[in-house]
Amino acid sequence: MARELTEVGVVGLGTMGAGIAEVFARAGLSVTAVEVTDEAVQRGREHVVTSTDKAVARGKLDPADRDAVLSRIRFTTAMDGLAVAELVVEAVPERLELKGQVLATLDRVCPPETILATNTSSLSVTELAVATGRPGKVIGMHFFNPAPVMKLVEVVRTVVTEPSVVSDVEALCARLGKTDVTIGDRAGFIANALLFGYLNHAVSMFENRYASREDLDAAMRLGCGLPMGPLALMDLIGIDTAYEILVTMYQQSRNRLHAPSPLIKQMMTAGLLGRKTGRGFYSYA
Ligand code: CAA
Repeated sequence: MARELTEVGVVGLGTMGAGIAEVFARAGLSVTAVEVTDEAVQRGREHVVTSTDKAVARGKLDPADRDAVLSRIRFTTAMDGLAVAELVVEAVPERLELKGQVLATLDRVCPPETILATNTSSLSVTELAVATGRPGKVIGMHFFNPAPVMKLVEVVRTVVTEPSVVSDVEALCARLGKTDVTIGDRAGFIANALLFGYLNHAVSMFENRYASREDLDAAMRLGCGLPMGPLALMDLIGIDTAYEILVTMYQQSRNRLHAPSPLIKQMMTAGLLGRKTGRGFYSYA
């Protein structure tokens, strides 16, 4: 019988972390949302406000419920606030050392039965699990961007994840209104393993002037029925995030489909990170 989790935490309030905090609060859970500085906490809060306003405008959320959603999230810079959480998701940037440090801190702060979940999209959940003294309670919970809209969560179990932890997290996904798929710990899990070769290929077609960005995107939207073309999707994901995912996948798979197209690194160096910086393959006012 799965535990019904009610007190949860999120560490890192970038695009994904803020979106995950919103998903939890919209499902009625009480959320402690942690960032490192007051400014980053404020940015995370604004992200949730903008997203819930959009949900109200689209008729997906009642205006009265928007205030309730925000009141269920305690925004803070204090990791100690997570001592009450039954499950914490870390969503800090995609670097093994940083994620390992955050999980080790959570291991000290949270009670021994707290489940520690990582939203990593390509790093080894097993390596992250052994950064803690409770590897059996560590699991992957990989949400998709935008988290409040996308219906999937990839639940990643390692060879040491306790079966009860898997069933608690699967039950939680159902309460969040998400469909979960449960898989082992391999590079890119399911969706990114299939998606990123395609995105990288689209970037190299653009880089080699094979077609314009608009035509590449229109072909996949109108010809294949995808909601967004690959270059617009790269801007949504973030060029830096996409680069980090490709590098990790390439290191693990050695499949040249995943060797990042040089343009991605150049855009990263120039600060063209996509929507979040106002410019990537496209410009955003
Ligand atoms: N809250 C709730 N619902 C929302 C919402 C919000 N904040 N914003 C939009 N929606 C809903 C809309 O109401 C609409 O729902 P219906 O179809 O039921 O009417 C739906 O989302 C689509 O909305 P719009 O057509 O108005 O489009 P939009 O411009 O607001 O958003 C999009 C578009 C949802 C981003 C869509 O283009 C899309 O699905 N794009 C693909 C995104 C994708 O592939 N994400 C995965 C990236 S890979 C990843 O995340 C993994 C990783 O590790 C990097």
